[in-house]
Parts: sequence; C-alpha cells; structure tokens
Amino acid sequence: MEKILEVKGILKIYPNGVIANKDVSVDIEKNTIHAIVGENGAGKTTLMKVIFGITQPQEGEVFYKGEKINLKSPHDAIEIGIGMVHQHLMLAPDLTTAENMVLGIEPLRGKIFLNIDKAFEVTKKVSQDYGFDIPIDKKIKDLPIGIRQRVEILKALFRNAELLILDEPTTFLTPQEIDVLFNTLKDLKNHGKTIIFISHKLKEVKQIADRITVMSDAKIVTTKEASELTEHDIAYLMVGRDISFERISPPEKMGKPLLSVQNISYINDENVKLLNNVSFDIRESEILGLAGVEGNGQSELIKIITGLLKASEGNIYIKGESIKGLSPRVIREMGIAHIPEDRMGYGVADKTSLEENFIVDRYYKSPFSKIFRLIWKYITNHSRKLIEQFKILTLSSKTTVSSLSGGNIQKVVVARELSSEHEILIAAQPTRGIDVGSEEHVHNLLKNTRDAGKAIFLISADLDEILKLSTRIIVIYNGEIVAEFTDVPKISGKYLGPYMLGVKKQEAAVG
Ligand SMILES: Nc1ncnc2c1ncn2[C@@H]1O[C@H](COP(=O)(O)OP(=O)(O)OP(=O)(O)O)[C@@H](O)[C@H]1O
Ligand SMILES: [Mg+2]
Repeated sequence: MEKILEVKGILKIYPNGVIANKDVSVDIEKNTIHAIVGENGAGKTTLMKVIFGITQPQEGEVFYKGEKINLKSPHDAIEIGIGMVHQHLMLAPDLTTAENMVLGIEPLRGKIFLNIDKAFEVTKKVSQDYGFDIPIDKKIKDLPIGIRQRVEILKALFRNAELLILDEPTTFLTPQEIDVLFNTLKDLKNHGKTIIFISHKLKEVKQIADRITVMSDAKIVTTKEASELTEHDIAYLMVGRDISFERISPPEKMGKPLLSVQNISYINDENVKLLNNVSFDIRESEILGLAGVEGNGQSELIKIITGLLKASEGNIYIKGESIKGLSPRVIREMGIAHIPEDRMGYGVADKTSLEENFIVDRYYKSPFSKIFRLIWKYITNHSRKLIEQFKILTLSSKTTVSSLSGGNIQKVVVARELSSEHEILIAAQPTRGIDVGSEEHVHNLLKNTRDAGKAIFLISADLDEILKLSTRIIVIYNGEIVAEFTDVPKISGKYLGPYMLGVKKQEAAVG
C-alpha cells in the first residue's frame, strides 16, 4: 500500500510543560479512511495540528507523498493539498457563510474587491453538490452551531484536499447529516482521496474506518485494521477497562413535579412557529428524555426554560412558581442548573481559568466570598476537588480553559453544573465530545443526581444516551411533542425513529 503520510517520532511539549505527543509514529495509507481514537487529552488534536502546520513539534518528522515536509502554517498545508475541519470551529464570526467559504481564495472583481455574487454562487453550488443545506448570506455568529459545523465541513471540501483531516466533525450533526457526510467521505475515498477521522462515537468509527489508531496519554497504543476490532475492543484499548453500555435501572420512587412546562409556544422574529403548545412535568427522581432530530425546537425550549428566550405563549413553573419575566440569574437561583449544548458559546469563558469558570454562578455567595471579597483559598480548594472528581486533565486549577482538550472543557461545564445548588438539571448534550470512559462516569453521576431526588431534563442527539438514562421519553418533531413513552425498557431506538422523523404521531401525545 502506498503511504500518503508518514509521521515519525513526534514530540510535542506545550509552553506550559504539557507533553501532548510523545514518540508518535503513524503511517496513513493513501485512499483509506483512517480513524484516530483516544481518551480526552490523549493528544489527537495536537497531532492533527502538527500535521496541518498549526503547531511545531520539538522532535520528529512528517513525510507527505514520500517527501519530508516542514509546514510553518495551515496556509502551507493547504498549498500542498491537506485540509482540516477543526474540533472547535474556526470560522470568522463576523463574516457571512459565503465570505467564509472563499476566505483566502476570494474571487475578485477588478483585482481588489471581493466578487460577492461569485462567492454566493460557489457557496450555493458546494452546498448543493455535497447535500448540506446552508444559508449563504448570514453571518456565522448568527447561526446555530450545527449549521456552523456544516459550513466548516463544506469549506474544507471546497478546497478539494487530497488528505482531509476531520477532527470530531459529527459532534453537532444530526443522524441524517452524518449519513450524508459519510456518503461524501466514501465518495471522496473512491476518487482517490485520503481521510483522517477523529470521533468519540465508536459506532461511527466502526461504520466508516478502514484502519484505526488508538492513542493514550500522548502515545500511540496501536494501529489495526478496523475489521480486527469491535467497539468493546476499542473502548478497552482506550481506557484500559471494560465499559458498560447497559441501561440504568429506573428510580425506586418518584416525588412531586419540580418543573412544569405548560402550553409553551414560540414564534420567532421571522414569524415562524418553532414551538407549538408544548407541555410536560418532570418530577423528583425522574429523568425525562427529550428525543428528536436536532433543530426541531429543542434549543428554543431549553432557552425558554432557562430564561434566555421569552415564550410567545404559555408558562413555566419551578416548584409551583411561575418564572414569567424573570432573569436567567433569578431562575438559576430558584434551583435550575444547565449544561448548555454549545460549550464554547455558552458553557465557558475560555480565556479565563478553571477556577473562575467554576465560580461564575456562585462567586457572590458564601463561602466563595465574604463582604465583597473573593476567598481564593476556598475557591482553589473547591476547584481542585472538582478537577479530581471529574477527572479533568489539567496542570492546575489556574490553567486557562482554552488550553484544555475539547472533552476536558466539556467536563469543566458538567462539573460546575452538577456541583451547583440545584433541584432541576437541564442537561443538553451532556457528554458531547467526552470519551467513552468519562461518558460512563458522567452517566453514573446523572443517576446519582436523580437518586438524590432531583429532576433531570435530558436533551440528547444520542439516542443510546436517551434510552440508557431516561425514566420517561418524549419525542419532539417540528416544535410539537408527538409521542410519550413511559415503559422505556421496552423501547428501542428503531421504534422512536418514525416519531422523530414525523412519520408517526401518537393521538394522545402530551401537549
Ligand atoms: N494550547 C495548549 N497549551 C497547553 N496545553 C495544551 C494546549 N492544547 C492542548 N493542550 C494539552 O495537551 C494535551 C492533549 O490535548 P489534545 O487537545 O491534543 O487532546 P485530544 O486527544 O484532542 O482530546 P479531546 O478528545 O478532548 O479533544 C491535553 O493535556 C491538553 O490539555
Ligand atoms: Mg481534540
């Protein structure tokens, strides 16, 4: 087999002393889809950044098509035919989709000015060619994260790379979009391209990869043909123990309703009805799972419950008290914790430390502060405990969040929310980007939270997660609750599918 890329003996130490890659060697065969898996912080993104010229290693060599390369920037990488879709999307927020699409390779008018019509035209064509629907003239910052991910993928495809690196490209995509992407990737492979694919979803890895490399603790554990490994094998190689994918047992008893959503409707600025008469209760010791293809009103519903958006009709009650007109902070004080779906947008302030991120919601309370003074000793101790409990990989509690790996940033958000004083937890995509070992850990913590009498609203694009944890499941389609299932142990993902796609609807669905 011809090798398109040979990585030899990479050593990468970040300025703060973290060894992210140690003696990393791997061959990527031409015309294959090569998956890279490993725990959060194992060094996957770092290795990709080395290959793509974003960061320079202290030791080691990279050969591309047999020739040694020394890339100084992503620009150099693109020049020789390497493309990359980043884990944390790197689009220019103030530019439109079309402007981002042609960034750096702009079609010009009169040699100076951007030919915007041409930019629109190409963007439309790329989106049609690859089957990803995107608006062409909206600013990136105004788009939901799922659409931003589509733009980022299209941008990389448009540059027609021969070696395409995809660092967790499916995190924000719906199952349908993942299918579209996988067909595109197979198609690219059939046309002689090579793909490096990173994901924590082992099912996806098994589905798409020809070869699999497992990384752990900055090193390569093994590289094997995908056919030689099962999902369980991969999980075991990653974390060194068996992972349970079993459903958790239902709660012994449930108490009174803590959260009550009554007849919520929402019409947006463009006069589109995104939520229609949504009603449900969540009780003490209950996990209510919301199943649905992303973009069917889930984001709006979460924002309304947490006070970030105003409902057009209906009302929400926390322990019997209406939250109408209350600010997010007051609603939080009433007992709501919230793991947001977009960790970089709403979950963390990434230029500040873990400590600061851990206390954003509690710094003004005792024992975190006294008479307007922060008690740093206490804050540091509190942070260290969370770091240990949630196994967050970081040098210290004073480290800046942006220097953590993606999954570890997610753990920061989960740790803060689960440690906040709350009775109701809104958990949106709680394990997004988290490795299988830590996912199991977070699932156990959610179960403990439930057993402590709290009400959990679980919104997840991952059906396995919904089925594993929920006491009861409701399905949302096109802004409406179309089904409710109370006997979860009898339900399978296949059974929910037609409801999620709007093909089936229960007559007596809640709402
Ligand atoms: N810019 C940086 N400065 C300092 N340390 C960093 C930086 N980027 C990453 N690290 C550290 O390097 C290690 C490897 O991180 P990397 O992002 O490569 O992990 P990963 O395998 O991609 O993890 P994930 O699955 O969570 O995305 C981690 O310990 C991380 O904290
Ligand atoms: Mg990463």
